[in-house]
Amino acid sequence: MIAIEETAKQKIEVPPHPEWPELSDEEKNALKERIKALLKERNAVLVAHYYVDGDLQALAEETGGCVADSLEMARYGTTTDAETLVVCGVRFMGETSKILNPEKRVLMPDLEATCSLDESCPADEFSAFCDAHPDHTVVVYANTSAAVKARADWVVTSSIALPIVKHLAALGEKILWAPDKHLGHYVEQQTGARMLIWQGACVVHEEFKAFALDRLRRLHPDAAVLVHPESPEEVVERADVVGSTTALIKAVKEMPNREFIVATDEGIFWKMHQLAPDKKLIAAPTAGEGATCESCAHCPWMAMNSLQNLEQVLRTGSNEILIEEEIRRKALIPIQRMLDFAREHGIGPRPSGD
Ligand code: 13P
Ligand code: SF4
Repeated sequence: MIAIEETAKQKIEVPPHPEWPELSDEEKNALKERIKALLKERNAVLVAHYYVDGDLQALAEETGGCVADSLEMARYGTTTDAETLVVCGVRFMGETSKILNPEKRVLMPDLEATCSLDESCPADEFSAFCDAHPDHTVVVYANTSAAVKARADWVVTSSIALPIVKHLAALGEKILWAPDKHLGHYVEQQTGARMLIWQGACVVHEEFKAFALDRLRRLHPDAAVLVHPESPEEVVERADVVGSTTALIKAVKEMPNREFIVATDEGIFWKMHQLAPDKKLIAAPTAGEGATCESCAHCPWMAMNSLQNLEQVLRTGSNEILIEEEIRRKALIPIQRMLDFAREHGIGPRPSGD
């Protein structure tokens, strides 16, 4: 039997941030125009996460696609007539789109864009862990492979984890949670549920440091602290608002504070600036405190999405997400359960366009 301490023991290879060639404004505009034309030609839409480059988020909005958190990205694909979804984000987001929309072609700018949580939870080891605890309801975070989702009873994202676990706890179910230990711990605290927790972590959020946050807070005493729950417990404890990317964006827009210290991937600043241009956004400190990219608040896999490789996949039709049908059908069940729960409980989007 795999002991909890033994889960997520593998070393995650974190790639360096890709260095995209600098484009002049003219080159950038020309590239954007080509992408717009290709989207029309291919009857395709962009489905982008808040962490990808601002140019990609802007293009998704300008062309009638969506910019959203992982729950809304999943939902959006099921509502559009486009034949092709181009998912700008990380691989699990593309896979979720394909699982929900098998008739659509799903492309991604880079199929190597993974996630440390997904990597920390190999399907065979996870399946053995589930087999060892057959009396537990299996709840997995969306940041997992299709094969791991196929082993789950429920899939959740950060914007719906609390109500779903509360619901399961009220039914008296024993819960096995994977893969994010920090989010799992936060969910336990907030819901009172006791869960068996896989020991995965997000390499980006894990870098936020409480002692440095305290220092920064002293310099900005009126700033509200916004924290994504993939962050360590001692950082979450210092937050004024803990929530999904959508919840943090909403907080910047709606709270009266003029300054915000933000503990999540800096890609989110693009949408925050767009919705609240007069607010000051300050990146929460990481171990590197901005001095080194080994510890900066930007996901190296989200950074693999660029205008250049987006244009290339649209032109060539390469980088298609394909999922074995049996796995797809099994993974669809817990994802659909999450979407049905969201609909029934009015857990909805947004602020994307707001
Ligand atoms: P959200 O669902 O809150 O957008 O989070 C996804 C993610 O990968 C955060 O690191
Ligand atoms: Fe995964 Fe963390 Fe990147 Fe989100 S920020 S995709 S959880 S590695």
